Formats: sequence, C-alpha cells, structure tokens
Amino acid sequence: MKASIKAIALRHPAGLDNLQRVELADPGAPAAGEIRVRIHASSLNAHDLGVVTGRLRTEDGRIPMSDGAGIVEAVGDGVTAFAVGDAVVSTFFPFWLDGGPTLADFSTTPGDGVDGYAREVVVRPVQWFTHAPRGYTHEEAATLTTAGLTAWRALVVDYALKAGDTVLVQGTGGVSIFALQFAKYMGATVIATSSSDDKLERARLLGADHLINYKRDADWASKVLEITSGAGVDHVVEVGGPATLGQSIRACRIGGHIALIGVLTGIAGEVPTADLMRRQQTLQGLIVGSHKHQRDMIRAIDANGIKPIIDSTFALDDIANAFRHQAAGKHFGKVCLRVSD
Ligand SMILES: NC(=O)c1ccc[n+]([C@@H]2O[C@H](COP(=O)([O-])OP(=O)(O)OC[C@H]3O[C@@H](n4cnc5c(N)ncnc54)[C@H](OP(=O)(O)O)[C@@H]3O)[C@@H](O)[C@H]2O)c1
Repeated sequence: MKASIKAIALRHPAGLDNLQRVELADPGAPAAGEIRVRIHASSLNAHDLGVVTGRLRTEDGRIPMSDGAGIVEAVGDGVTAFAVGDAVVSTFFPFWLDGGPTLADFSTTPGDGVDGYAREVVVRPVQWFTHAPRGYTHEEAATLTTAGLTAWRALVVDYALKAGDTVLVQGTGGVSIFALQFAKYMGATVIATSSSDDKLERARLLGADHLINYKRDADWASKVLEITSGAGVDHVVEVGGPATLGQSIRACRIGGHIALIGVLTGIAGEVPTADLMRRQQTLQGLIVGSHKHQRDMIRAIDANGIKPIIDSTFALDDIANAFRHQAAGKHFGKVCLRVSD
C-alpha cells in the first residue's frame, strides 16, 4: 500500500467549518531540480484567512496556507542549492526570483492559486524555497514568508530606511511587529499604535519609542505630529487601508514614504489625494517580495539575530480554531501552525 501524508483541504462552500482533515498520497521522490520537504510549521496571515473564509475564491479541495517551513528530506538530480537536512522556508511568489515587481495576482501563490503548506510533505522545484535563518525554530521560520518579508520590503527594499528615520507602525499584528523590529534594528525611531494598552506595553518592551492608543486617540495623526514636533514620520507601514490612509498622509512628513500594505478597513475608499500631492509623498503599493528579497532579509536576520514574536501555536488539526483566534484580533505578532512533529 502506498504511504500517505496528512493534510487539510478546504471544501466548498469555503468556510472554517469546511476545513477537512484528509490523507493524500505521499508525493514520493523529487525529480531533477526538485526537493522533497517535510513541512513542520506554517503561520497564519490575513490572506490565508481570506481564503479559508471564502472571501478570496479558490478551487474546491485547495490545501491552504502560504507559509511553510521544514526540513529537506531528499534532493533531485542537479540540485546544489540545498542538501538533505537543510532547514528551509517557502516563498510567496515562487516565480518572482529577482528584479522588479510583477502583477501580484496570487495565481501561483501557495495556499491560493496553487496548493499550500497545510500538509506534511511537499515536492517542489528548488526556487520555491530559501534557506531558513540559522537557529530558528520551524514556527519562527514560517513567519517570514509573508509577514516578515512584507515588513522588510516596506522598509528596506524600495525606499531604504536609514538610521535616524522615524517609522509609524499601525497595530500589533504580524506585519507591524516585524516592521517594528526591523526598524529598531536599522536604527530608526518607532511610533507604534494599537487598540490595546497591554499590547502597547509589549511594543514598548520590543523597543517602540512612542505609543499611541488609536481607539482612545482617534485623531492619532495629530499625536504623531506632536511627537515629531510637527514634521511627521519618514515611513508609514500602512496596514489599515482606506479608513487609515488619510491620517497616514497627515502623519507622514513632506516628501515621506507610505507603504500601502493592508486592507484591514476595506479594499477601496476615499483618499485625500490633494494632500498626498501637496505633501509630495510617495504612496507605494506593495505585495510581499521576491526570492532575492527573502534571501537578503534572511541574511540580515542571520546577522542581527531578530526573532519573530509568536503569539501562539496550534496543531494542524486545530486549524479552524487557529483562524478563529486570529480573526478575534487578540493576538500580538504571529499565530503559527505545527504541521508535522
Ligand atoms: N501587501 C502585502 O504584501 C501584505 C502582506 C501581509 C499582510 N497584508 C495585509 O496587511 C494587513 C495586516 O496583516 P497582518 O498579517 O499583520 O494582520 P494581523 O496579524 O491579523 O494584524 C491585525 C492587527 O492590525 C491592527 N489593526 C486592525 N485594524 C486597525 C486599524 N483600523 N488601525 C490600526 N491597526 C489596526 C490590530 O492591532 P491591535 O490589536 O494592536 O489594535 C490587529 O490586531 C492585512 O490587511 C493583510 O491582508 C498585506
């Protein structure tokens, strides 16, 4: 009898109650140019939540989860980038290896357009993975594919953050906590916002220099201007979207940079375009990054020792509760999945 592996499949109609535990045929040995990876961990992102709740449409039976980290169990002919036993982490855009951005349509994104990492073993071409940072657990490595790389790109890749800059991070979810950590490592001043004083205290312990409760101070842009003596910040990591962008424009300095990343308040809305223009700011839409960006980020992590902040880890069979936990918004940093032991 052929060996099987454990996986989670999303059945139609999509929803948390239709995440089914299934057995799949073991994918076997890798062909030339491929590696076989035992997936030990994944991490949850708002994008995955969109898939498993049906907000983003996928095929019936799709294996969810864009992030995957594990160990190389076998390599195919001609593979030199990895060896058996290497710790690896998946990439979000397996065909965006280097160079400028491409249309981010998710058609090749694991856990959306193609099957993802809620399964014990995959066999995939080498370029679908990079090495994981030294000394990382699999859960830690799994946080890098989406949240880590998005924060890295927002601050470091296109509009290079430099020491002395001031960065505004919104909320304390996966992307924003990574942004806080990278910004502090790069020598920036960080202003962190949250709906929770407890979470703000945790952000302070991670190095945030100024804290704003955006529920209590609904006009948080004015607070940011107070803190920066009227100048505004150099970079905004904008995860809110349409309902926060207007204040982000006000909170950003003249000539500053806003990395538009999130859709937490919706996917369309009114934007004070004249303010953006008058203030001569750069509004950068971005989605995750390339294989090269991921390698550069991991090189930096190997040098700086930053460790992701993991809020909680759920077993693969408990995937629906992991998403319920994330959707409730109580988490600080990343929620992870343990895929195989
Ligand atoms: N473009 C990309 O490449 C990319 C990549 C990853 C994620 N994203 C998007 O970025 C957003 C954040 O992703 P994530 O994975 O970090 O999510 P997450 O871990 O679920 O974080 C959500 C947190 O955002 C904060 N938040 C919610 N509404 C807010 C608001 N109106 N103003 C300020 N903060 C608010 C809350 O923090 P507090 O509890 O502290 O208030 C909440 O806990 C999502 O929309 C996601 O789709 C985009």
